[in-house]
Amino acid sequence: MSDIKYIDDVELEGKTILLRADFNVSLNPNYLSIADDERIRQVIPTIKYLLKRKNKLILASHLGRPKGERVQKFSLQIVCNQIKEYLPDYDIRLIQDFLTEPEETFKNQKENEIFVYENTRFYPGEKKNDPEFAKKMASHADVFVNDAFGVSHREDASVVGVTNYLPSYGGLLLKKEIQMLSMILKKPEKPFVAAIGGAKIETKIKVLDRMMELADHLIIAGALANTFLYAQGIEVGASLVEKDKAELAQKLLFKAAQNDTSVILPSDCVVGNSQELEYGGRVCKISEVPKDKQILDIGPETTARIGTIIAKAKTIVWNGPVGYFENIHYRQGTDFMYYAITNNEDAVSIVGGGDTLAAISKKEYLEKLTHISTGGGAMLEFIEKGTLPGIEALKK
Ligand code: 3PG
Repeated sequence: MSDIKYIDDVELEGKTILLRADFNVSLNPNYLSIADDERIRQVIPTIKYLLKRKNKLILASHLGRPKGERVQKFSLQIVCNQIKEYLPDYDIRLIQDFLTEPEETFKNQKENEIFVYENTRFYPGEKKNDPEFAKKMASHADVFVNDAFGVSHREDASVVGVTNYLPSYGGLLLKKEIQMLSMILKKPEKPFVAAIGGAKIETKIKVLDRMMELADHLIIAGALANTFLYAQGIEVGASLVEKDKAELAQKLLFKAAQNDTSVILPSDCVVGNSQELEYGGRVCKISEVPKDKQILDIGPETTARIGTIIAKAKTIVWNGPVGYFENIHYRQGTDFMYYAITNNEDAVSIVGGGDTLAAISKKEYLEKLTHISTGGGAMLEFIEKGTLPGIEALKK
């Protein structure tokens, strides 16, 4: 098995290229506009690179989880409109159904035209990685390029299946994601600080486990932290807690101690009611959370401790908000994390995860982060395993 070849390792000129991107952007609640287009923005350099070399492009992506059916709110038309903003000289044309689209359409593709296949998950063959479906998807192109790091942990037809039918390469974003994340796995400069937030322990167990081997300091926050606090016998009131995972949390803490990784859990917090928009919460010690209140953010003492650790770090990885940031009263901890990380310009900093991006994407200083990963689950799985099915498929 050979290594991946990226598009800048080979001569790609005058070809028709099927480019898999991850345009699974977060939409606003009415589904009529894009809340955060980071995932589109980050693929634009690859698109421009390929267009500059006179290649014709067919873009493919999923959006949401329409489960093999045409669900209008997940149409990629909204993505086409956004791509047009970045490439005003091109016609961005949505191909409603590439299975039935006449062959002439593809034969007659103009140089200033970019085709976009409608949502790959409108087809049952996508999630099943159906070979016939993948073959048909590949049939209009000469070459396949995967620039969809965010979905490379899925063995979908448009990620893995198509590589059986076309010469396949990695795109510039995929390259950057792999290089940045591999660097922290292989030789992170120390002190290495990992901050893992979010709600559920289940989705983060493996990354927590790995970070206990790699990191010098592991900050655990968000609702995730409640289970660790509970496992240490601390009452967390009406907070979200996964009691059945307490034993697992204890084992993880034990592992951290064995590996000399210092685990930072909140020592104070902001308690309140997540749905209450008018009034903010109040600060209390972690051992004094009232029975009827939820922990919704980290408190000032915790913030100060985290601030000191982040300021001294040389490598920082952050995935998952540290509080209920959707409510303005409980987003201070998450905002603080962001500013503390962007303030440490000596450190290599990598931030990822859908919710984390939603919390920071409209902020200033984004350029001070070394890398914003477009992967949520993909980033976590890459940290755990060092590779992903979509990456392995390019190595054939
Ligand atoms: C993501 O948002 O993490 C990727 O686009 C993958 O989406 P999925 O979890 O629906 O497969």
